[in-house]
Amino acid sequence: SVVILDFGSQYTRLIARRFRELGTYSVILPGNAPLERIQRENPVGIVLSGGPSSVYDERAPRPADGVLDLDVPILGICYGMQFLAQQAGGDVKRAGKREYGKADLTRYGGQLFQGIQGEFVAWMSHSDSVTRLPEGYDVVAETEDTPVTAIENVTTRRYGVQFHPEVVHTPKGTLLLENYLSICGAARDWNAEHIIDELIEGVRAQVGDGRVLLAISGGVDSSTLGLLLARAVGEKLTAVFIDHGLLRLGEREQVEAALRPLGVNLVTVDAREQFLGALAGVSDPEQKRKIIGREFIRAFEREAREYGPFDFLAQGTLYPDVIESAGGEGAANIKSHHNVGGLPDDLAFKLVEPFRTLFKDEVREIARLLGLPDHIRMRHPFPGPGLAIRVLGEITPEKLDILKRVDDIFISGLREFGLYDGCSQALAVLTPIQSVGVMGDERTYSYTAALRAVTTDDFMTAEWARLPYDFLATMSNRIVNQVHEINRVVYDITGKPPATIEWE
Ligand code: XMP
Repeated sequence: SVVILDFGSQYTRLIARRFRELGTYSVILPGNAPLERIQRENPVGIVLSGGPSSVYDERAPRPADGVLDLDVPILGICYGMQFLAQQAGGDVKRAGKREYGKADLTRYGGQLFQGIQGEFVAWMSHSDSVTRLPEGYDVVAETEDTPVTAIENVTTRRYGVQFHPEVVHTPKGTLLLENYLSICGAARDWNAEHIIDELIEGVRAQVGDGRVLLAISGGVDSSTLGLLLARAVGEKLTAVFIDHGLLRLGEREQVEAALRPLGVNLVTVDAREQFLGALAGVSDPEQKRKIIGREFIRAFEREAREYGPFDFLAQGTLYPDVIESAGGEGAANIKSHHNVGGLPDDLAFKLVEPFRTLFKDEVREIARLLGLPDHIRMRHPFPGPGLAIRVLGEITPEKLDILKRVDDIFISGLREFGLYDGCSQALAVLTPIQSVGVMGDERTYSYTAALRAVTTDDFMTAEWARLPYDFLATMSNRIVNQVHEINRVVYDITGKPPATIEWE
């Protein structure tokens, strides 16, 4: 593998994803990970990431002793390059001005740029620069503002780039990373087939003859995990799908139709009364989330007893959830984000988490090979509490039913008009607002539905999607014509921040 030591750059995960897209397995470890921890990954190369620090800060983060002496090619990116240069005896100074954004390389060459031709646009984000080259190093790229933009020492196989080859704003960056992999002699066998084989082998080794329980949410992660486990352990898997009545129109049937024919031993549980009963009269969003979380655990434990005993509990935990990286979470708790499927730690099962090393796009790739239909595979995220947080305020079966029909018109419409994949998430909200309208010659006094669609990379910030007016007009017409309880449709044109994606 290639080990990436994280010094706090916002782009560290992208580096790992790029290497994996190029077919080389790559892991992220904290910048100060002990040497033994790094060696356990059998690194063929080490990347020092960027980060917010200055190498001359007293508390500048640094790799553990011995890391720089490892006999593997080391690539420093941004802070990583400055660190390499300083350690080798060069100088780093605050640049005259901070360089941020795209810059043209005025000259480039050397091993990292091998075979790359034409214009090279590089994404810069730094205030420090290497001002004196350490011995044994050559400058292999420069920009107008930064004379030392890339360095290399071909004898010790130490390389550095001041820019970020991992971001899309450096269009030829992938070629550079590929060159680095070649320099490392890294294996290029990390592809979906290989991943599936490894995961199946790993699950079989861990589970043996044990029985495995899995909660299916209907999303891509748990559905894919169901398919993988069915391949790995067959009937030893029991997949439980709890229908809490807060799902989209026809969702339970879709999941059944997708998974059962592919051999998943799937149990679907109708728990609608249980959940709606517990939610009756509750209008506070956080309270709703708590109740749903609690009822989910109850229902799940009941099914575990019914179909058990089980030795293992499978979960679709992904790599971004477990990366031991430098920057902590830090985000303020705006919403509690109860994930239905989030289970207490004290359930007496051993955990099986085959996707712990995978990014979401990798899960989507293996889902394709395992035969998961695209409408589930490429689905937008759907919150665990489902439509409960989209019926604003108190939930009644009638309101849920209205929202399901509105939501279905909107989501089907997005697919029909080819707009679905361009949005990161789309949803409908049933507001408690009633307003006056006129339909035929009749006065109406009915509910307002809100539509929301966003684009985002990480769901921490988001832009409202600029859906075409004509499409919105069509949706509005369809909704008020087909859902008689709605006489007004609005489109949410607020970003996150200041709004959130969900309305509750
Ligand atoms: P917000 O509304 O916080 O949403 O901007 C960000 C992302 O998180 C999803 N979300 C949830 N997911 N349980 C979940 O599993 C929740 O309670 C929850 N609340 C919000 C939301 O759909 C969006 O993708």
